[in-house]
Amino acid sequence: MYPLRRNRRLRTNESIRSLVRETVISPNDFIVPLFIVEGKNVKEEIASMPGYYRYSLDLIEKEVRELWNLGLKSVLLFVKVPENLKDNAGKEAINPEGLMQRAIKTVKNAVPEMLVMTDVALDPYSQYGHDGIIDGGKVLNDDTTAVLSEMALSHAKAGADFVAPSDMMDGRIFEIRSLLEDEGFHDTGILSYSAKYASAFYGPFRDALDSAPVDAENIPKNKKTYQMDPANREEAIRETLMDIEEGADIVMVKPGLCYLDIVRDIKNAVNVPVAVYQVSGEYAMIKAAAEKGWLDHDAVMLEQLTAIKRAGADIIASYFAKEAVKLIS
Ligand code: PBG
Repeated sequence: MYPLRRNRRLRTNESIRSLVRETVISPNDFIVPLFIVEGKNVKEEIASMPGYYRYSLDLIEKEVRELWNLGLKSVLLFVKVPENLKDNAGKEAINPEGLMQRAIKTVKNAVPEMLVMTDVALDPYSQYGHDGIIDGGKVLNDDTTAVLSEMALSHAKAGADFVAPSDMMDGRIFEIRSLLEDEGFHDTGILSYSAKYASAFYGPFRDALDSAPVDAENIPKNKKTYQMDPANREEAIRETLMDIEEGADIVMVKPGLCYLDIVRDIKNAVNVPVAVYQVSGEYAMIKAAAEKGWLDHDAVMLEQLTAIKRAGADIIASYFAKEAVKLIS
């Protein structure tokens, strides 16, 4: 006898498929990363991220208004720091008049309701391209977290709603939370990159900000002493639970697609919102394959974003946010 249960009944047409669909992506899900540069009227395409740009502050206002009108309500800011302002101490990172601090004010001024999140890490400010201060070939942990907490405070003072530490030093969430509390910034949130892997998928991002580790003697060639080993799963839970104890409001897994098992593990283990960063290399791969005509760009984009959400992401930071939202609305 034919089976009593025929699963294809629920796939017969789009009406029934949409009725039983378990995962739906919406503009509410996204954080939009933005790259900012000094200058006027600058909109530079990033070579390894086709269709993605660095903007000067005057043009970012228009961009942010456009995002808001599409229903995108949060941005994550990154700045490209001029070479002459880089050092091994992160001095420019805490400059109240620095590009990041001005960018926060510019975005808040353009669209006050837009949630402004800021990357907190030293790499764009480091002459060595590392997320921390270097001494004797090592990335110093506690000296770095001291600067990172000052950096987070300066972003909060400039008006950031959330700071997003992406450095993977130990104890940085505690240091940042403590300083924010001491200084009265009780409502400034922390989105922690809690399970951030030492991934080769960050290449295009480092092109965008010119922030790759430099090739010099006694400078670590990669970020493996602070970012996580891609082979590890349980460690991701340990890192994430510690960040929550230290005061993280939102935790994040990064990159996305290769780490969806981690996303599900963490979603099941915690009771705070879980974000996923679909990183620059993931964006670049889809763009490159689509350019060659080898993949259907829009279909693959939506499939990956849906997969990230299905795996357990409550929030997705993605360079595809704008394109995806235009397509689904
Ligand atoms: C800085 C930072 C990086 C990314 C986000 N914040 C680069 C890195 O850690 O080397 C990568 C984002 C992307 O690839 O899209 N610490």
